[in-house]
Amino acid sequence: MASTFRIAVFASGQGSNFQTLVEATQNGRIDAEIVLLVCDKAKAPVVERANKAGIDSYVFDPKAYAKREDYELEIAAELERKQVDLVVLAGYMRLLTPVLVDRYTGRMINIHPSLLPAFPGKDAIGQAWEYGVKTTGITVHLVDGGMDTGAVIAQKAVEIRNEDSLESLEEKIHAAEKELYPEVVSWFAKELIHVEGRKVSVMQ
Ligand code: GRF
Repeated sequence: MASTFRIAVFASGQGSNFQTLVEATQNGRIDAEIVLLVCDKAKAPVVERANKAGIDSYVFDPKAYAKREDYELEIAAELERKQVDLVVLAGYMRLLTPVLVDRYTGRMINIHPSLLPAFPGKDAIGQAWEYGVKTTGITVHLVDGGMDTGAVIAQKAVEIRNEDSLESLEEKIHAAEKELYPEVVSWFAKELIHVEGRKVSVMQ
């Protein structure tokens, strides 16, 4: 029997994407196990979600370390211990250093709530709303050293209609995330992803 594909999720806040991924591993949509939550905020609701699901958490306080590399080395050791195959960033609000990025090149992904390269960085939904674009969406991409700059794996467009508000747009974006992210993670678990420079293809 093939060994289980092992995932770590990094999150800082609500963890609704974390929850969706947990459920997708439970209902078989993703053929893998989430073996670890990494979180930089002890009080984040995502930590409670992990506890409820019986998933181990590695919670750290970034202020207790002199620099990012110091806590990332500890995270790297934890990922190693758990034999993690894929790192999934889901609302993890910290920039990563080469300590983690270089160890997980091609094996670390992020979801961003815009059609990259438009509206990188914080508050992407608000940026798109203020700009007045008619189509925005979500992007799942590989993580490199930059801010939302890694190779694109998959995107899904979301229309902004006259009757939308910022709140309704946020709802549509979050609903789209819950569809796309589990699907992309399942491709990794099935080893369907092929990367050549910035060109990522899915062998279906
Ligand atoms: C999502 O909108 C995701 O695109 C962004 O952070 C948000 C996380 O939400 N990177 P949640 O914590 O999963 O509810």
